[in-house]
Amino acid sequence: MSVKTYFVTGGCGFIGSNYIHYLFERYDNIRVVNLDKLTYAGNPANLKDIENCSDYVFVKGDVCDSKVVEEIFQKFRPDFLINFAAESHVDRSIGDPGSFIMTDMYGVYVLLETSKKYGLERFIQISTDEVYGSIEEGSFTEGSSLKPGNPYAASKAGGDRLAYSYFVTYKMPVIITRASNNFGPYQYPEKLIPLFVTNALEDKYLPLYGDGKNVRDWLYVKDHCDAIEFILEKGKEGEVYNIAGGNERQNIEITEFILDYLGKPKNLIKYVEDRPGHDRRYSLDDSKLRNLGWSNKYDFEEALRATIQWYVDNRDWWRPLKSGEFLEFYKRHYKMEL
Ligand code: NAD
Ligand code: DAU
Repeated sequence: MSVKTYFVTGGCGFIGSNYIHYLFERYDNIRVVNLDKLTYAGNPANLKDIENCSDYVFVKGDVCDSKVVEEIFQKFRPDFLINFAAESHVDRSIGDPGSFIMTDMYGVYVLLETSKKYGLERFIQISTDEVYGSIEEGSFTEGSSLKPGNPYAASKAGGDRLAYSYFVTYKMPVIITRASNNFGPYQYPEKLIPLFVTNALEDKYLPLYGDGKNVRDWLYVKDHCDAIEFILEKGKEGEVYNIAGGNERQNIEITEFILDYLGKPKNLIKYVEDRPGHDRRYSLDDSKLRNLGWSNKYDFEEALRATIQWYVDNRDWWRPLKSGEFLEFYKRHYKMEL
């Protein structure tokens, strides 16, 4: 069998690095090319164990740079492109939307155009459940209308629909995935779970927005990676697939779970001013994917405990991240010192 080449963008981030680990655990005969700009969220330490592997190539560069993207196509002729690269933090998009519009929309355009020129077997656009907006009751299907409620979600919706248009107009083999909130190892500690675990470990406040009752549907990152690979193999071109965790929880429930696991007091919780435009609840109907034969492999509470324990065991990974620019962002955003 010929060696397949995976072109992964944003592979030094949270989900991208988990996906590259997943690929090398699953296959012996693949090559992975990872293009990452190494923004504040991109961390080569996430892939330290494979950095010298002969089947792995790292390219530092921007998905908006057509020259570097074209060089990768010329040199490696990828079979599959999986686009994880994005500005991904909602709170940062509220303060500074420009970089989101560039990477999450224009970057998708550059990747699509170059893929069109060279051809490939699959272009997987990693979108998000946030493109649907908030839902009070019931769950969104792939046919639900898109009502993104913050600049991050809107830029992701733009990239999502642009990818679809390349299927319709140019018959490109595009598939779009929309997953719910991921959790697991290597998540930058600005997001709810790693922020709260690492703050609690240092006896710092856990800043909970609003009344703490917003609901997210939690998906273990290893299940997400498995679903992406399943879709790459079995999904149909031009289709959108929701990927749900099936674990809807209020933020306060997640917060208390973390504190209980770590044996820390509830008075570490600090209710703070709500996020502007804060979506109340996300919920996905992913029966389309399940009917194709995919299901989660991990139990939610076990995976959450394993995740918390990973941050307990890997202080050397996250401590350096909670310094410099992170502290400035934290102070500006939460109006308190960490
Ligand atoms: P992340 O912020 O941890 O990682 C993003 C990565 O992209 C980083 O390594 C960063 O350096 C890189 N990057 C950013 N701009 C780039 C550019 N212009 N060129 C090249 N690389 C660039 O994000 P994540 O949580 O791993 O999310 C990955 C993808 O999954 C995103 O597209 C996000 O929208 C989507 N998604 C995330 C979740 C979630 O819960 N985290 C859920 C659904 C979908
Ligand atoms: O739903 C998928 C999305 O999940 C992805 O597309 C995004 O890239 C990813 O960042 C995530 O977005 P959220 O805004 O849902 O994740 P975040 O971890 O920022 O927040 C989760 C919930 O916790 C949300 O209701 C806001 C709340 N929260 C978050 C932070 C960082 C707090 O209450 N306090 C906080 O300090």
